[in-house]
Amino acid sequence: MSHKRVAILISGGGSNMVSLVDSMIGDHPVRPCLVISNDAEAGGLKKAAARGIATAVVDHLPFAGDRAAFEAELVKPLLAAEADIVCLAGFMRVLTVGFVSQFQGRMLNIHPSLLPKYKGLNTHARALEAGDTEHGCTVHEVTAALDDGPILGQARIPVVPGDTPDTLAARVLEWEHKLYPAVLRRFAAGDRRPVLLP
Ligand code: GAR
Repeated sequence: MSHKRVAILISGGGSNMVSLVDSMIGDHPVRPCLVISNDAEAGGLKKAAARGIATAVVDHLPFAGDRAAFEAELVKPLLAAEADIVCLAGFMRVLTVGFVSQFQGRMLNIHPSLLPKYKGLNTHARALEAGDTEHGCTVHEVTAALDDGPILGQARIPVVPGDTPDTLAARVLEWEHKLYPAVLRRFAAGDRRPVLLP
């Protein structure tokens, strides 16, 4: 069988990238073709290379203030790798409508909150400040609006007494590692019903 090809975009440690890559084995319909980072120091690059995956770096800094010029570079390795699906996994750059439209309906993102709550940054601190009793993570299709787009999966966890942004982030991350592979697998099979965990 011919596998679909997924490219994964990261900016940091890449633990979600690793969970995705490690899930794409056996009868999984998708295989990783490329990991791209906007930061040459991103720890995830070494983890990808250690797994035999091609890597690329497209540094955003030389393009400060010109997102479209950055994206014109970013798209080149994605096209060269013939990616069918693009997974944003801790990729911390905002993308323009021009870029997003090139991958419409085939680009996913994971976000550390129960969207539509807490788009943007500092999601764990914001959930705590609001006194939420429940928090979690969301995988959604990427559209032009930040942290928006159809929800493809969510994992919910309780907020417990004594939680700090760090303890909450660590517990949410464990669920990210379950949720994102589950969503990718279902999405790649053409099934867009949301995955709800636990
Ligand atoms: C994850 O918690 C992910 O949800 C978050 O960054 C972290 C990356 O960790 N993404 C965002 O905040 C996107 N706005 P990782 O590099 O270990 O996967």
